[in-house]
Amino acid sequence: MRAKITIIGAGFVGSTAAHWIASKELGDVVLLDIAEGIPQGKGLDLAESAPIEGFDLKIIGTNDYADTANSDVIVVTSGAPRKPGMTREDLIKINAKITRDCISKAAPLSPKAVIIMVNNPLDTMVYLARQVSGFPKERVIGQAGVLDAARYRTFIAMETGVSVEDIQAMLMGGHGDEMVPLPRFTTIGGIPVTDFIPAARLDEIVERARKGGGEIVNLLKTGSAYYAPAAATVQMVEAVVRDKNRVLPAACYLTGEYGLNDMYFGVPCVLGAGGVKKIIQLNLNNDEKALVAASAAAVKSSIEALKGMDLDA
Ligand code: 2OP
Repeated sequence: MRAKITIIGAGFVGSTAAHWIASKELGDVVLLDIAEGIPQGKGLDLAESAPIEGFDLKIIGTNDYADTANSDVIVVTSGAPRKPGMTREDLIKINAKITRDCISKAAPLSPKAVIIMVNNPLDTMVYLARQVSGFPKERVIGQAGVLDAARYRTFIAMETGVSVEDIQAMLMGGHGDEMVPLPRFTTIGGIPVTDFIPAARLDEIVERARKGGGEIVNLLKTGSAYYAPAAATVQMVEAVVRDKNRVLPAACYLTGEYGLNDMYFGVPCVLGAGGVKKIIQLNLNNDEKALVAASAAAVKSSIEALKGMDLDA
């Protein structure tokens, strides 16, 4: 039986994700948005590309949550994007209201779904999505690490001139400028990245990766990135619907791992059917632990800010 994948938010990230889900034939797609006509138009347009691209899927656009019932995966992309000069944290109140609305409508209709959150501030929005859905922690996760690691891998490929396919990298932390790319867990064709790039230059690449989202916002001026965020999201959707057991960084709910509790945070995990099957605990050195602690403090303070907010005001 084909999977049913709901994408909430038919903006650039949502519609680009729908496009890649269709081309990989991962499942039927329901594209939902509050804007009338937009999801219907984009859904129909994408469906009309099927005879050319050759995918056999049901693709619909809708404003009605009833159409999302019994989804296997729910992806939430809805929310305001950053504008130049804004941090992801500046979006917290507006996107929290949107997240609460989407999840409270979608989750009861698809009680077995895996929820993948994509809106910002990411780790805080996943925390809220879990609270509102009441789903088990394994089935509510956030997309950020795959995107952040992809940026880091892209910059390493640009630097070394070798194929991006051969660059493997792990990254931890919140989806903010304090995220923690991990050079000690980065290899090129199985060879440590430090054999290719001097430490000082690698530091610059790590810094560029940390600010990678802002770099795109500053270029686009009217919104934020969407190709790479959508591709990262689809890799996670694929891991779930094809039960691939991928080892990927994702925002997972922590209950003591890395000394952190009651928060979402980017960690390596095994992702397959039913969501997170395992959180992998890396043996970090003291420098890495300090960076992870700084990122965790930033995420904690964002979650605390959310808890102190009156979303009805
Ligand atoms: C990014 O990093 C939008 O947060 C997203 O591009």
